[in-house]
Amino acid sequence: MYTIKFNFEQSGLQPVTLENIQPGYSLLEVALMNDIDLHHNCGGVCACSTCHLYVNKGEDHLEELTDKEEDFIDRAVNPRLSSRLGCQCLLLDGDGNVEVTLPDQTQFLGE
Ligand code: FES
Repeated sequence: MYTIKFNFEQSGLQPVTLENIQPGYSLLEVALMNDIDLHHNCGGVCACSTCHLYVNKGEDHLEELTDKEEDFIDRAVNPRLSSRLGCQCLLLDGDGNVEVTLPDQTQFLGE
């Protein structure tokens, strides 16, 4: 089971910590199941960059970055070394803590 903390760059949004999250879900799925609004224009198939987020902690618990994912990250707003696509960050078997920051999604509404 995982504990996952979501931070938000958008002003006015407070961090959310979720506990007892099962492996096998992507961070996009975890967000959506918990009413955290993370965009996913392509439906979670690594064909856009709207589910872009930053992984601050726990990247070892996530499925590895692929070349395809990296290509789409390059097109995201403000990519950083810690950038990932939420739909591609599958939680691997195990336990631990993961912490992410969601960019201010109002920057690319309608993309
Ligand atoms: S939802 Fe499109 S790449 Fe993740």
